[in-house]
Amino acid sequence: MPAVETTPGTSQPQTTPDSSQPETSTSPSRTGPARRWFHSAVVYQIYPRSFQDSNGDGIGDLRGIIARLDHLAALGVDVVWLSPVYASPQDDNGYDISDYQDIDRMFGTLDDFDELLEQAHARGIRIVMDLVVNHTSDEHPWFVESRSSKDSPKRDWYWWRPAREGMEPGAHGAEPTNWEASFSGSAWEFDQTTGEYYLHLFSRKQPDLNWENPEVREAVYAMMRWWLDRGVDGFRMDVINMISKDTSLPDGHLTHGGLHGDGSPHYLCGPRIHEFLQEMHREVFEGRKDRLLTVGEMPGVTVGEARLFTDPERREVDMVFQFEHVGLDHGAHKWDRRPLQLVDLKASLGRWQAGLADTGWNSLYWNNHDQPRAVSRFGDDGRYRVESAKLLATVLHLHRGTPYIYQGEELGMTNVPFAGAESFLDIESVNYYDSAMLRGLDSDDVLRALREGSRDNARSPVQWDGSPHAGFTTGEPWFPVNPNHDEINAEREVADPDSVFHHYRRLIELRHTDPVVADGDFHMLLPEHPTLYVFTRSLGEESLLVLANFSGDELAVPDLPGQPDWAGAALVIGNYAPGPGAGAGADAEAAGEGAGGLPALRPWEARVYRRAG
Ligand code: GLC
Ligand code: CA
Repeated sequence: MPAVETTPGTSQPQTTPDSSQPETSTSPSRTGPARRWFHSAVVYQIYPRSFQDSNGDGIGDLRGIIARLDHLAALGVDVVWLSPVYASPQDDNGYDISDYQDIDRMFGTLDDFDELLEQAHARGIRIVMDLVVNHTSDEHPWFVESRSSKDSPKRDWYWWRPAREGMEPGAHGAEPTNWEASFSGSAWEFDQTTGEYYLHLFSRKQPDLNWENPEVREAVYAMMRWWLDRGVDGFRMDVINMISKDTSLPDGHLTHGGLHGDGSPHYLCGPRIHEFLQEMHREVFEGRKDRLLTVGEMPGVTVGEARLFTDPERREVDMVFQFEHVGLDHGAHKWDRRPLQLVDLKASLGRWQAGLADTGWNSLYWNNHDQPRAVSRFGDDGRYRVESAKLLATVLHLHRGTPYIYQGEELGMTNVPFAGAESFLDIESVNYYDSAMLRGLDSDDVLRALREGSRDNARSPVQWDGSPHAGFTTGEPWFPVNPNHDEINAEREVADPDSVFHHYRRLIELRHTDPVVADGDFHMLLPEHPTLYVFTRSLGEESLLVLANFSGDELAVPDLPGQPDWAGAALVIGNYAPGPGAGAGADAEAAGEGAGGLPALRPWEARVYRRAG
């Protein structure tokens, strides 16, 4: 199959050095990290079961993705991250894998996969696989073997422990530690066959692999090499900072409800995490072609840790997904929802920009398959849906880092109008609802939290057109399409040059062509302003000013401390239809001029200006 030769819209020369040497073409005007290909790349995430169905069974599949590749090419993305398509009992929609080297029949075959790879590469799009190796499915042959007896050669591939000392195996509270699983309940499951417990940080059908065992690591690396040899372009590594646990397995502090403990200090970024990732790099990536992508999903990762993980000299991963900004509307836990303050969002994202300015690299995202829809969470999905979806895109894509677009985000898709408890399908939501009811919580409160925070919000099918099932399937969709698909859909947006889709397309093009967007320094302004998000990017003599009004009210642009005069600067991109002479100051009369000589910002308006010198 053809290797990727070009990246659509990228003006940078395509080099092919050995990936063990970080590509260098250090821009002379900055002292920061060397420029790497993914600085000007944009990644698009596909959640296959909800993307496009090709055979009428109501579930998205590989041939469906192939059929929609032109949509992605028109958008201009460089990379697709595919959520898992491996063989799986689908307890957690494919994040429970029973065969790492096969495609689930529901999604197609390895031949379909090879064709997808070929067709994507032909359009200059790379394919990055989801790598789920903190755990397998309990139906994976490794676990089936491991659970069969205490003497099994694979016993030690997982975390088996006897009951707490002095307690009856299987009795209430006899679990080896008090850790709570991410999907509610104990993180330990009692297994009758041998009278011991196994660890599962997620569902009981997702037993954790024991990375202390070198055979486990070698098996994982061999599998990764097999996919790279097949032509895939890298991996998004699922909860990869959980693979090293404190082997003494201490209890955690009691959490809400007092039933369980929080084990996370004992398994997030554990003692051997850097060693494991460096070993993986050596065993899997060293000496391979340039332009692979590795991104580690890392709940709870700090800026300091992220600098280590993403420092190219250390050869661990290219970038990480951090969770700080998507936790700002949580209280004690994810279901304890509170309003987001823009000042907190700026402080958090600004700290990550500063923390990874000289070493390492940021990934940038508002949402994914685990998060509510961006426009419903950070914008206004009613009156100003289009404006606020474009504003969010503008702000994110003008940060320094690699932006990720989650399927449907480029259309401004919204959260789902769930009718009641029975409308939720995701294991995390279903288990939380059940456990909350057992604990006697108020069902209206729980439902409110689920409506806002459930992962199901991201999982309704992509809205391709206005037909009954939105063009997603000719059959019954596994998850109902959002009724707003008659208004919000790809067909309409591709035809409308002012749509959210075309705004994303322009932002991607801007990253491809403008070195300031890709590599410029980031500087946050007015961090205390409650509704204005404003920052500059600068590289050499050129600067960009990004202004975004996170409110439905008109906002005069305040003085920008330490800034040169931006009046007269050229407008690079904005989210309102350009009026006559859209440069700074041009609309002053119509929009009301602020202190900085820039026109006032209309509701949810975002503008980017450029100055040379
Ligand atoms: C990651 C995935 C999520 C999954 C979990 C367990 O957080 O993004 O969807 O449920 O890991 O694999
Ligand atoms: Ca299908």
